[in-house]
Amino acid sequence: VKPERIDLLVHNIGVLVTMGGKHGPRRGVEMSDVGLVTGGAVAIADGKIVAAGAEADVRAEIAGLPIEQSLDANGRLVTPGLVDPHTHLVHGGSRENELVLKLKGMSYLDILAQGGGILSTVRATRAATEDELYEKARKSLDIMMLYGATTVEAKSGYGLTLADELKQLRVTRRLDETHPIDLVSTFMGAHAVPAEYKGRSAEYVKLVIEEMLPEVKRQGLAEFCDVFCEHGVFSVDESRAILAAAKELGFGLKLHADEIEPLGGAQLAAEMGCISAEHLLAATDEGLKAMRDAGVIAVCLPATSFNLRAKSHARARTMIELGVPVALSTDYNPGSSPTESLQLVMTLACLNLNMSPEEVFTAMTINAAYAIGRGDQVGSLEPGKLADLVLFNAENLAYVPYHFGINHVDTVIKKGRVVVA
Ligand code: NIG
Ligand code: FE
Repeated sequence: VKPERIDLLVHNIGVLVTMGGKHGPRRGVEMSDVGLVTGGAVAIADGKIVAAGAEADVRAEIAGLPIEQSLDANGRLVTPGLVDPHTHLVHGGSRENELVLKLKGMSYLDILAQGGGILSTVRATRAATEDELYEKARKSLDIMMLYGATTVEAKSGYGLTLADELKQLRVTRRLDETHPIDLVSTFMGAHAVPAEYKGRSAEYVKLVIEEMLPEVKRQGLAEFCDVFCEHGVFSVDESRAILAAAKELGFGLKLHADEIEPLGGAQLAAEMGCISAEHLLAATDEGLKAMRDAGVIAVCLPATSFNLRAKSHARARTMIELGVPVALSTDYNPGSSPTESLQLVMTLACLNLNMSPEEVFTAMTINAAYAIGRGDQVGSLEPGKLADLVLFNAENLAYVPYHFGINHVDTVIKKGRVVVA
């Protein structure tokens, strides 16, 4: 249906990246096709896109309709709003002390085994009030938006008691209601075995399955369930049991898989029908092929492998060659990836994962949207989708990851409204 007026016309766009033209996540060579238009415009009404493409075509399509407001892009690069499909947004405290331990040679899993790492954030999160958690996460969301994000996934997993997990998830819901960024909520009660269950992980898994999952579902506080499947955290069997229970309750599934040790997490993600599997540094070819066959999206987190000083990174080139759809994310969290900047992730994805700038933008828009079940609403600039756009101070895609460590965002539009100017 044609609207009665155009609320906002973004015109004089130098390079417009639409990501349009195909349903479903992009794989293989499709990841290089960003739907590029030179000299573009985007017409918006009621928070949604009416037309996006060559300026002459867009103007012809909306001919006769009154235009309430025009925004001159002044030749800038315009892309879909960035989607961050994997963050641990809501938490208390920070862990700069671990930077020093890391420099002394302590590994991430060593720090966790000694009661630090995730467990130190669990202590800080339990100690924080709901308002304190809200204020801290709101500031991070503001930064994410300044750097171009318009849709963000947020995981719980720093409470690890029913009450504290619910507290974290309520903060996510309140942020979703009050902040321009749309949030997608994931329950991750199986993020670590809490200190009070040390050596009794089976009992903790039982608590997650029998008490936490049903209550989170009952209160409608999360759409997805995620598990940290890792040596010394949750085994493949424990992860399978949690995911199976979550599936039974109707949650979508995600899995932190094969980050440090090749346990077969990629295969488990395929077996359980996860929407995505995350990290995957140690995933085998066999695991990646299983993911491809099951349609699991790989969410690569190059800021995490950079920050952990990993010797190697996720094998994005192999994934793309095999036909696994690749998405990218910050993994924003206070331990393994204390950054909100998707633009930093772009640079690291190019330099450490050997992804092209086109593949990077695909991975942070349309594929990231599909990785959190939002592929039909965001991730591309096509009629009917939400009018989420970023105007970059750049003349082409490659310039953004190339000129690194600074913020290139000029303007962010969320649901047709200018939220960063
Ligand atoms: O995705 N890998 C597990 N969880 C997070 C790290 C959380 C933390 O260290 O606080 C991650 O890297
Ligand atoms: Fe994570």
